[in-house]
Amino acid sequence: MSKDIVHIFDTTLRDGEQVPGCKLDANQKLVIAERLDNLGVDIIEAGFPISSPGDFDSVTEIAKLVKNATVCGLTRAVKKDIEVAAEALKPAKKPRIHTGIGTSDSHIKHKFNSNRDAIIERAMEAVSYAKSFVEDVEFYAEDAGRTDNEFLARVCEAVIKAGATVLNIPDTTGYCLPEEYGAKMKYLKENVKGIDKAILSCHCHNDLGLATANSIAGVINGARQIECTINGIGERAGNTSLEEVVMILRQHPDLNLDTNINSKLLYSTSQMVSQKMGMPVQPNKAIVGSNAFAHSSGIHQDGVIKNRETYEIIDPEDVGVDESSIVLTARSGRAALAYRAKKVGYELTKLQLDDVYREFLKYADSKKEVVDEDIHKIIVSSNINYESIT
Ligand code: KIV
Ligand code: ZN
Repeated sequence: MSKDIVHIFDTTLRDGEQVPGCKLDANQKLVIAERLDNLGVDIIEAGFPISSPGDFDSVTEIAKLVKNATVCGLTRAVKKDIEVAAEALKPAKKPRIHTGIGTSDSHIKHKFNSNRDAIIERAMEAVSYAKSFVEDVEFYAEDAGRTDNEFLARVCEAVIKAGATVLNIPDTTGYCLPEEYGAKMKYLKENVKGIDKAILSCHCHNDLGLATANSIAGVINGARQIECTINGIGERAGNTSLEEVVMILRQHPDLNLDTNINSKLLYSTSQMVSQKMGMPVQPNKAIVGSNAFAHSSGIHQDGVIKNRETYEIIDPEDVGVDESSIVLTARSGRAALAYRAKKVGYELTKLQLDDVYREFLKYADSKKEVVDEDIHKIIVSSNINYESIT
């Protein structure tokens, strides 16, 4: 059975770029947009055109450059925003306007001092207006995570009638539990008239560390688009991480879902975005962190050297990492030392290894990590009669 495709909507250049200190210049945005297009993302959210003349220009330049992906611009449910976004997106082969409004009681009361019926009216007006410029209109129900499902279904039904092609259900505050977010999608699938005319989209923030889990719960329950960023960068604790959702779907064929992403470009794309934004990737970050394929405890190293799959569920080459690494620390065993010694040119017999290992442990206790240069020193100082293979 062929797999259902989940569209990847990348918002690194919009939600990601909102992070303090991560501002990109126009050229950096173009380089990243081109890379995202090559990576195979389906939609690139290029910016918020009304927010500044610089952002307007960037959206236009990205719209000119991108060959395959849909290029999207964000707006509020405000006519001027929509006009400006439509103008910025004019050169795009496939333009999309992303408009919306807060739908939770908190947003309706505190942000808009309004009421539910008036919010539905504004939502419909915004979608109809956007539709007068472009065919592809995505509607976001901001704070949908905390919006009562019945009202959310009314909003969705209304904006589908107004012409929305995609319904974004953001967990703006990262509040939902995976079961709750999945149930929300299921409820919308089952209760919104005309839902088959639109794609449901997950947009999850990571305030409780649940953005990835919530997005996966969303697609299991019928959503077919995930909004995410490279390295999970974004407001506060960030957005859903692109590399995580892509690899979860790939590693779980039982879900029968896949994306159009070329996973071999994930690691280099992560590095590129991190470098351009000046935002380091945490070493233990899933998929793209420097420790994601590094093994340092003796038991794990012994297993991985015998067969990589004992402790690795992803082939590092599948995400563009050359190979797993065996890191030598005071927790490493003989198998790891013999393996690394061989890599730097020493084939040790069992007796030699015993001697070198004793020296190694003394050395390793005083260092965080034993590197190739240290291995040479240890072998020479252990005074064994080694046989070099080089
Ligand atoms: O988190 C959010 O609700 C958003 C919307 C503007 C789509 O980023
Ligand atoms: Zn967001």
